[in-house]
Amino acid sequence: MKIVVVGPGAMGCLLAGMLAKSGNMVWLLDKNEKRAENIRNNGINIEGKTQLHIKVNITTNATDIGKADLIIIAVKSYDTIPASERLSAIADGSVYILTLQNGVGNVENIKRVLNNPNVLGGVTSYGATLLGDGVVRHAGTGDTYVGRLDGKLTNEIQRIAEAFGNAGIITKVSDNIEGLLWSKLIINVGINALTAITHLNNGRLVEFEGTRDIMEKAVNEAVLVAQKKGIKLIYDRPFEKVKEVCALTSANISSMLQDVLKKRKTEIDYINGIIAEEARTFNIPVPINEALTGLVKTIESSYDKFLFSTN
Ligand code: PAF
Repeated sequence: MKIVVVGPGAMGCLLAGMLAKSGNMVWLLDKNEKRAENIRNNGINIEGKTQLHIKVNITTNATDIGKADLIIIAVKSYDTIPASERLSAIADGSVYILTLQNGVGNVENIKRVLNNPNVLGGVTSYGATLLGDGVVRHAGTGDTYVGRLDGKLTNEIQRIAEAFGNAGIITKVSDNIEGLLWSKLIINVGINALTAITHLNNGRLVEFEGTRDIMEKAVNEAVLVAQKKGIKLIYDRPFEKVKEVCALTSANISSMLQDVLKKRKTEIDYINGIIAEEARTFNIPVPINEALTGLVKTIESSYDKFLFSTN
């Protein structure tokens, strides 16, 4: 398959490297020429659970790529709309587009910008940390699911899942992708903002009564919003599942804490922020998610502004 991966972050490089290694023709699309040049010269280097060095095609101009079979969107959720706009020359209705991003609302945004009906949602338990341009530590594996929001199963989706499987990324086709996206969202609601605020890794969040209590309340608020929306979550006991993920990924520095440590914009608007936004339409109070959103936004706006000096 000819596959374009948009965004050479941790997940983007991991997927591009593994899919190229299994024989697909892979292009990376970047927005940053300097980084693209580094990756063009040095290739993708993966360490940890996968060990791989491979050269891939990379460009900052979508027209260099031409027609592809599949475009994978792996940018941060706040970059989905500009990234989709950059794809307009190569993303007509005959191309499948798959988002494997955190948060919800990305499928809808890509569909709207590109007017393409073949946009698939996906969730993955793969975890990766970016160590430098094109350099990634593959930290965790697990199942990946892909599917359409309307639940329709097609041969093309099966072919995409097979291409992932051939690359060693075990992938299942789901007819409840919205339920999976919301179930993953609820895990991020419970973990990401709390780690970004406390600087604890995932495992330590459940050791303290204070963080455990806030986590439970944030998760319960999000579950209520999901129920109001008629979403079929895949876990019977979501808070227990969030605690289980904390244990399974105990050493992880969550993606949001990684962003805060690097003083980058976070995905808070697409995680706890989306819960607060959706709750307003149903008139449900979600004070914990509102507070977590407000605190992470305050951290983002106060990068480089020191409140006090120790001198
Ligand atoms: O965003 C993340 O870091 C991950 O989705 C998760 C599951 C919280 C593990 O760190």
